[in-house]
Amino acid sequence: TDIELQNRLLAACAIAREAGGMAQRNFRDRPPGKPLSLKGAHDYLTETDAEVERLIRARLAAAFPADSFFGEEAGGEFGRNVWVVDPIDGTSNFARGIPHYCISIAFVSDGRTEIGVIYAPVTDELYAARRGRGATRDGRAITVSGETNIAHATVELGWSTRLPSENYADALLRLKQAGASVRRAGSGALALAYVADGRVDAYCELHINSWDALAGLLLIEEAGGWANDFLSGDALRSGNPVLGCTPALKDVLVQATGISPGLSATAAA
Ligand code: IPD
Repeated sequence: TDIELQNRLLAACAIAREAGGMAQRNFRDRPPGKPLSLKGAHDYLTETDAEVERLIRARLAAAFPADSFFGEEAGGEFGRNVWVVDPIDGTSNFARGIPHYCISIAFVSDGRTEIGVIYAPVTDELYAARRGRGATRDGRAITVSGETNIAHATVELGWSTRLPSENYADALLRLKQAGASVRRAGSGALALAYVADGRVDAYCELHINSWDALAGLLLIEEAGGWANDFLSGDALRSGNPVLGCTPALKDVLVQATGISPGLSATAAA
């Protein structure tokens, strides 16, 4: 119901702030040279990821005991109401002392993202969206940039070691040839929030996990942007391509990245 969703949104905002406070204390106090564990080459798991995820999980379980939990670090089984959480997105930035990372919390009900919250501790900015109710930064409404021309657009392209490098090289080349300014700042979730806020015009990545993408994609849709239908197939567990942008840039970005329009078509357009 409406009240249940509103309670979840308020709880997610409070929990994201608390979790961000914990992350930021660890970010500041981390002794230089402290060893980090690697999940794989360039795939970090800091002690903070696990600690922050435990905090978020405990808070959500206490407030909504019937909901399931699916996190980057812990995994999990889930029912029709599930919280999808990235305790720290931008872990490699975090691990290297680069102040660009965030906490991402999404609530999915019957296969649809209903709530998305992203908190950036370094700048103390809280992004929040509820389906059908708009998107906000620190309580004020936000909208996508309205950019229509790819040659004037700033696009973030993310990549990982999960797909062959050639795929990303092709996408990068086509975006550059189209005249876009292309960057990679290292946090997919925060990049999606920045698209919603009009700070960049698009985010694309050929494979990303659900915990990185869901909150940010809802923010983009609720900020008047276009987002691909990320949750098709088994994306909750295994990820999918992600594309979020201003409505006018959709066609040219589908073309340049090769992200299938079949995975698309939820919002505005
Ligand atoms: C990663 C970041 C990165 C993206 C990768 C993700 P993590 O998540 O979002 O920007 O390109 O695909 O795996 O490991 O920092 O939570």
